[in-house]
Order: sequence, then structure tokens, then C-alpha cells
Amino acid sequence: MSRALPQVEPDPSIPERVTVYEVGPRDGLQNESAVVPAAAKAEFVRRLLAAGLTTVETTSFVDPRWVPQLADAEEVLGLLGDEGRGARRPVLVPNVRGLDRALAAGVGAVAIFGSATETFARKNLNRSLEESVAMFAPVVERARAEGLWVRAYVSMCFGDPWEGPVPVPQVVDACRRLMDLGCDQLSVGDTIGVGTVGHVHRLLEGLDAAGIGPERTGVHFHDTYGQALANTLAALRDGVTVVDASTGGLGGCPYAKSATGNLATEDLVWTLEGAGVETGVDLDALVETSAWMAGVLGRPSPSRVVKALTGG
Ligand code: HMG
Ligand code: MG
Repeated sequence: MSRALPQVEPDPSIPERVTVYEVGPRDGLQNESAVVPAAAKAEFVRRLLAAGLTTVETTSFVDPRWVPQLADAEEVLGLLGDEGRGARRPVLVPNVRGLDRALAAGVGAVAIFGSATETFARKNLNRSLEESVAMFAPVVERARAEGLWVRAYVSMCFGDPWEGPVPVPQVVDACRRLMDLGCDQLSVGDTIGVGTVGHVHRLLEGLDAAGIGPERTGVHFHDTYGQALANTLAALRDGVTVVDASTGGLGGCPYAKSATGNLATEDLVWTLEGAGVETGVDLDALVETSAWMAGVLGRPSPSRVVKALTGG
């Protein structure tokens, strides 16, 4: 029987079309302690592309000693071949070494990942904030010269487990510095999931005033306190049209205390479908993929929509 719900009732306060930026294979799997075979990772990406996701962040070209789970980046891309090659399959790169590896693997889009706080820059990148910007500068320059699309993540935009509250102007400054390198898109990360709706509005307003408008800004919410979907809607009402999410709500950051899963893509797509927003994503195919991945990982998906639609 085909699915009759959610009933579609358009919400004029949010954009008519939203790009779901899927991060499950990267942000989701990077946090898994048991190694997932490369073939299963490639199959995960393949199924997500087939479900209509227009962007699937596929893996990371970081130092494999830092994130052993994604040490097979070359192998995964090799298994995928031409499928979704290019802007549909960005990868994370921290430095020129990572970019060299990504270029050799034939990628078309990369993402650098900075921090709004000094402590997290040191914990995640082994660099001060200043040094991390200096590390990213030649990456962005060369990536652009090679014709790649470049995204800049900034972590700890709503709070930091070591430093506590992070003032909005400090976050805006960190974002500005990375975007000034020449990146195409920003993604503001609530790495530990402590943001709330007013805070989202304040930050987007601050970014806009600094020349980084909602048309260039994506949002990346982790769901630690159950706020990810509410925060996403706040961002959409401020004109954001790119939302990061992870199928099955997988995720976390191995270098951030208390980071848990990302906003579940299924929950996001259910909400957007109900509001009449176009995403191109086939929710049923997505839920099937999520259930398959839960089988690979050996535990059920925390997504409420997956539970409701699979009767689990
Ligand atoms: P380092 O130890 O300072 O690196 O780490 P280094 O430049 O001193 O190099 C040391 C050795 O590592 C050298 O090897 C390099 O070749 C090698 P040696 O000469 O000693 O044999 N190396 C590499 N090998 C392969 N690929 C590379 C690479 N780079 C160096 N790319 C570094 C600095 C940045 C590399 C390290 O700190 C690192 O890899 N960090 C990545 C941490 C990470 O992946 N965290 C998770 C992703 S961020 C996140 O999840 C947040 C996000 O989702 C948004 C949000 O939620 O907020 C994006
Ligand atoms: Mg993340």
C-alpha cells in the first residue's frame, strides 16, 4: 500500500525548495567504532543517491590515524566510480595532503572544516585558529584553481564543551575568515546540539550583516537536546535553503565531547514533504536505506519517522 501521509499543507513561511545535504556516510559513519566495510559504505552512498539526494558527503581525506573508520576513502570512491561523481559527492579535506589525495581520487567538490573556538581547533585539527586558517588557505586556492566546488564548515557555532557559550560576533568572524578564502558555501555547525531557535536567528542575522547571506549558508544541527528540527525550521524561516542531515540520525564527532547524532534525514524529509517543500527525495526509498544501514550497524535507527513507517 502506498503511503498517504503526511498530508501536504504548504507552509508559505519557508522556501518552496530545499537542498538536503546528506552527511551520513561521513559525519555519521566517522563516529562508528566498529569498522564498516568499504563495500557497505559505497552501497550506502549509492542508495542515498538513488533515493534522490542531490548531495551526499561521501568520506574524508583526513589523517587516517585521526579517523581510522574513514581510512578507506580511496577505496570507497574507487567502488563508486562515476556514479554521482562531481558536485553531488563532496568529501572532507583538512590540508593540501588531503586535497592531493582527493584530486587523485577524482572528486569534484570538497569541504574544509574550521572552528569558532580556539580549543576545538586544537582538539580537532591540532592547530590554533590562526594556524588552521593558514592550513586551509592553500587548499581553497588550489581547489578553486582545479574547478572544484568548496564548502566551509565552522564547528562550535552555538556553544563549546570546553569553552561554554560562544559569542555570535566570534562565530561570525570565524565564518568570515573562511568564506574570505573563496568558499562557495558555509555550513554553520551546532556540533554539540545546544542551539535554540532565537540563537539560530541571531547568528543568521549576524552572518547576513557581515555579507554572508542565507543563500550561501547551510545549517548543520546535531540533535543532542532534541532541537535539531526546530532549529532547522527557524533557519528556513530566515531564508536558508541548504540543510545538513544524516540518514538514520547517525553521527557525532570523535573529537567533540558530547556530540551525538545529526538531524535524521528522514525526519527532515517528512517535515518538508508535509509542508509541500520540494526536495527531490523519495522518503520511502530513504527509509528503506536507513533500515538497511541499521542492519549493517546492528542497531535500530533513532529516527522517529523510520520507527513509525517501519513499525519498529
Ligand atoms: P597533524 O598530526 O598536525 O598533521 O594533524 P601533520 O600535518 O603534522 O602531519 C603528520 C602526519 O600525518 C604526516 O605523516 C602527514 O603526511 C600525515 P608522516 O610524515 O608523519 O608520516 N597526514 C595525512 N595523511 C593522510 N591524509 C591527510 C594527512 N594530513 C597529514 N590529509 C590534521 C593535522 C588536520 C591532519 C589532523 O588533525 C586531522 O586529520 N584531523 C581531522 C579530524 C577529523 O576528521 N574530525 C572529524 C571531522 S570534523 C566534524 O565532524 C565537524 C563537522 O561535522 C561540523 C560540526 O558538526 O560541527 C564538519
Ligand atoms: Mg557534524
